[in-house]
Amino acid sequence: MRLPDSQVAVLEAASATDERTIEQLSEATGLKPATVTGAAFDLEDAGLVAVSATETVSYTVTEEGDAYAEAGLPEVRLYRAAADAGAADAPVPMGEVVGAADLDGPEVDIALANYARKGYGEVESGRITADPETDPEADDEATALDALISGAATATATATATADEDALAELDRRGLVERSERAVRSVTLTDEGVTALMEGVEAAETVDRLTPELLASGEWDDVEFAAYNVEADAPETRGGKVHILRQTAERVKDTLVGMGFREMDGPHADSEFWINDCLFMPQDHPARTHWDQFALDVPPMRDIPADLLERVRSAHLDGVGEDGDGYHSPWTEAVAREIDLRGHTTSLSMRYLSGNEIGDLDPPERFFSVEKVYRNDTLDPTHLLEFFQIEGWVMAEDLSVRDLMGTFEEFYEQFGITDLQFKPHYNPYTEPSFELFGTHPETGELIEIGNSGMFREEVLRPLGVDCDVMAWGLALERLLMLMYGFDDIRDVHGTLCDLDLLRDTEVLH
Ligand code: PHE
Repeated sequence: MRLPDSQVAVLEAASATDERTIEQLSEATGLKPATVTGAAFDLEDAGLVAVSATETVSYTVTEEGDAYAEAGLPEVRLYRAAADAGAADAPVPMGEVVGAADLDGPEVDIALANYARKGYGEVESGRITADPETDPEADDEATALDALISGAATATATATATADEDALAELDRRGLVERSERAVRSVTLTDEGVTALMEGVEAAETVDRLTPELLASGEWDDVEFAAYNVEADAPETRGGKVHILRQTAERVKDTLVGMGFREMDGPHADSEFWINDCLFMPQDHPARTHWDQFALDVPPMRDIPADLLERVRSAHLDGVGEDGDGYHSPWTEAVAREIDLRGHTTSLSMRYLSGNEIGDLDPPERFFSVEKVYRNDTLDPTHLLEFFQIEGWVMAEDLSVRDLMGTFEEFYEQFGITDLQFKPHYNPYTEPSFELFGTHPETGELIEIGNSGMFREEVLRPLGVDCDVMAWGLALERLLMLMYGFDDIRDVHGTLCDLDLLRDTEVLH
């Protein structure tokens, strides 16, 4: 007879007279218990063995049970102390007895409840009696507990046999032991099994792959197919996943939409006009040099609204309003039309506020974007050449700095950041201006997370806006640092990135 390897081994290790457990067979054959079980069932189907199962119950003593086995059950200790104090003759005050029994905290209640349950005595008006008939040495539960402990660390069926079932059930209810049931399977050879062994069984040749040759020759019908080894090691595969920065960007968008904001959209490469001039940044401002921003070698932007261009030019030269003042420095249209990679998404805010994107706006209005910006910075743990800015603004009558702070508090709270700090700052386009800080959860350092302020007249008037606008640019990467505790921005970007962090971090929505 030809059988698969494992079945041959189990058949040979089984006996017709003795029951052999799966564990014993596993030891005898060197096969895993699961393999032995599988083979045993296959052999049973073929009528060569019989498989039987017995349920065994075992009890493990819990930590609390161990402690009581050592010190005595609380009610037994109480009984001894009460009897010593003479409570078998007349009631004695509880206080004395509890102290003598060395019971503390929750043990007192446990002792009293079980004392009453077992009829060891009574407690009334602060006095305790002890039943003279009780023998504290003969407590069933204490005896069962001791039997379990002396049996073995994990008490087995032998100990169970000596202990009384009711006492064990009570110990289980009290959490002093843990009961578990297990099926133990045993195998015996059947007569057919014995015969087969006498006639000789051989391991069938196993084939791990069905080939065209096996099919064509008809041999497939005779060969034994190897079973799949579902426990074999296989290469770990990791599915693709959205980068945590993108995931967090989505969460930020959801949050802002939830706060009533609409999303802005616009060019990454834009004219100096929208990036800087509208923001009342003088054309000779240091941030406008090639040290700071990436200039593109492309034709200048032609379609800038002429009237807006004129109003912005005039604000730069002469200021706005009666006593306004300009910069008294050169301003040329040629510079305004040059194209750069935007260094902030405030260019989008200018486009929307001017009415250029979706027409004139009617306050109150709220807009945001979560988009990339580009700066010619030096790469270091907190600076990259491109990063995401959370841009936003609110246009309404009579806004104050309190509205600005309240908005930030409401926003950051949704990301678990509740320790914001505000510092006065300077921007050519906002007055007053504030920098925003949060505390890094690991290093405890204050980290700058954003810049904000109220747009000034020199910005708003040329755009044609005649109410207040509060605005900000927040760094998405810094928000991530505060949320996930990494302290080098390069942990999430580029060749040095921390793959485990990227794989394991789940952004919760
Ligand atoms: N543009 C600013 C920056 O990049 C952020 C900002 C936007 C500040 C709007 C004030 C108002 O830092």
